[in-house]
Amino acid sequence: MCGIVGYTGPREAYPIVIKGLKRLEYRGYDSTGVALLNGGLKVYKKKGRVADLEEFVVGADLHSHIGIGHTRWATHGEPNDRNAHPHTSASGKLAMIHNGIIENYAQIKKDLSKKGYSFTSDTDTEVLLNFIEDIKKNNECNLEEAVRIALKRITGAYCILLIDQDDPQTIIAARKGSPLVIGVGKGEHFLGSDASPMLEYTKEVVYVNDYELAIVRPDELILKNLGNETITPFITKLDMELAAIEKGGYDHFMLKEIFEQPSTIHDCLRGRLDAAHGIIRLSGVQNNIDAFKNAKRIMIVACGTSWHAGLVAEYIIEELCRIPVEVEYASEFRYRNPVINKGDIIIAISQSGETADTLVAIEKAKEQGAIIFGIVNAVGSSIARISHGGAYTHAGPEIGVASTKAFTGQLAVLTMMALKIAKENGTIPDERYTKLLFELESIPEKVEALLANATAIKVIAEKYKGANDALFLGRGYNFPIALEGALKLKEISYIHAEGYPAAEMKHGPIALVTETLPVVFVATKDSYHEKIVSNIQEIKARKGKVIAIITEGDEVIPGLADDVFFVPPADEIMAPMLSVIPLQLLSYYVGIAKGVDVDKPRNLAKSVTVE
Ligand code: M6R
Repeated sequence: MCGIVGYTGPREAYPIVIKGLKRLEYRGYDSTGVALLNGGLKVYKKKGRVADLEEFVVGADLHSHIGIGHTRWATHGEPNDRNAHPHTSASGKLAMIHNGIIENYAQIKKDLSKKGYSFTSDTDTEVLLNFIEDIKKNNECNLEEAVRIALKRITGAYCILLIDQDDPQTIIAARKGSPLVIGVGKGEHFLGSDASPMLEYTKEVVYVNDYELAIVRPDELILKNLGNETITPFITKLDMELAAIEKGGYDHFMLKEIFEQPSTIHDCLRGRLDAAHGIIRLSGVQNNIDAFKNAKRIMIVACGTSWHAGLVAEYIIEELCRIPVEVEYASEFRYRNPVINKGDIIIAISQSGETADTLVAIEKAKEQGAIIFGIVNAVGSSIARISHGGAYTHAGPEIGVASTKAFTGQLAVLTMMALKIAKENGTIPDERYTKLLFELESIPEKVEALLANATAIKVIAEKYKGANDALFLGRGYNFPIALEGALKLKEISYIHAEGYPAAEMKHGPIALVTETLPVVFVATKDSYHEKIVSNIQEIKARKGKVIAIITEGDEVIPGLADDVFFVPPADEIMAPMLSVIPLQLLSYYVGIAKGVDVDKPRNLAKSVTVE
């Protein structure tokens, strides 16, 4: 939520900041702004996207060797020019950008108003900035000290970058709950919400931790905690190439990411799955193997698409490992005082590794003695760092707002985990274990085969693009895939969609069925096949339009459904990694047919770092 970029060094700052903002636009795109120092403080900001800002600044003097920039996902105050960041302080000397929410801003605003401060925006950010300036004035301290004092008095989440007209080479940055990466160059430093703005300049980065404050100058990076103690920055080498964050010839990141799945699933399995020797190497699980073996239960916390991966995992883990699993929305779990016993395992699933609700949920569970296992895509992210153990999904940067390749990566990791634990626990017969390992190994090839037929989905999408509503139904392992298909369609095409267990449909949603309602059945060949065929009959009897995702060789459903899409045969445990892909394509093609900006659908942001 909100992308932030900063630069200080010998180069022109504006082009670096603007390019960085374009890469971070997935985090929010309501309004954009930059602050530069050239003689005095210059702030340019505008409602809309980075491209709108670029148009707005044509002709302006943008020369500066220091700059901060922001792309916003609005929390406090509607998206408009006034509320766009950077904000400036009452003296006009300080400029600040912020990602997060200051929860006690209203009281601080009241106190500052009594002192005569007035505000030009509705944001919590402007309040924090003036609070800092007020502390600086009253305590006669430097800006760094004022920031430290202010941050100790606020509640909420933040990543802030500040520049000061009187100190024209320095950026002060701090974080709690919102990500901050600092790129270390030769005589220059780069700052960003993730590493993408600095990729072509440096591979050396520092992931700033919560409650840390950085004083960043061209030749100097000083890291401190809020107690003013100096911390040695831990430099990590980035393992990411520029090509990974570019569209590579595709029209949209979403389409690129859908088509990357044969290789991303392969990357996820590579070096871990050795079917020929019956081995799964997952060091994170191995290091905690006793905890998994002795676990009385596993709880999975996640949001959105990652939560759907958790639901699939519930079915797989219970089936193979015979350990009870509960799956929770992180946003509910964190507030509902759940019973957590020492030794309980909490699996947190997150693409970004920064989702605020998931992060706080596991922090709380950790305090209560749970063992935290993170399944995360973004390397070095907060969830990865606070987990006791974990496994990366290795899907590479996911930039399209709709999660696609991260989801199949999560399923691949969760399947490997379940198989490994089941083997250790002796809850899976050897023959089935071996068969499933080979099945898993063949998934990338099968994904490739079904993607070769993507145009068939485009034809279906054209046919149903005018729908106002849609129903997605599935049973067993495919029930969460029905939920995921509905979520994808909602976010990318703005069509109202509901996902339901197919049998549950009779308890209410069947009332929606008319001859214009598309009903998507995820009905691959599995142990529920006959049952779901009956459910299809029930819809057809009421004249609903049936689109079915089915297994090659199915001879029954093509005779019932209006449209079918075939996926290669697979064990039912693996089927979700195949059956979800036509649904990702369906939402993409419907979105495109309706003219939606599928990489940046309205109101959404890729990484939800506010609760
Ligand atoms: O980064 P996370 O996996 O923690 O994100 C969770 C959700 O915000 C995310 O899956 C969201 O639902 C996507 N837009 C779905 O496509």
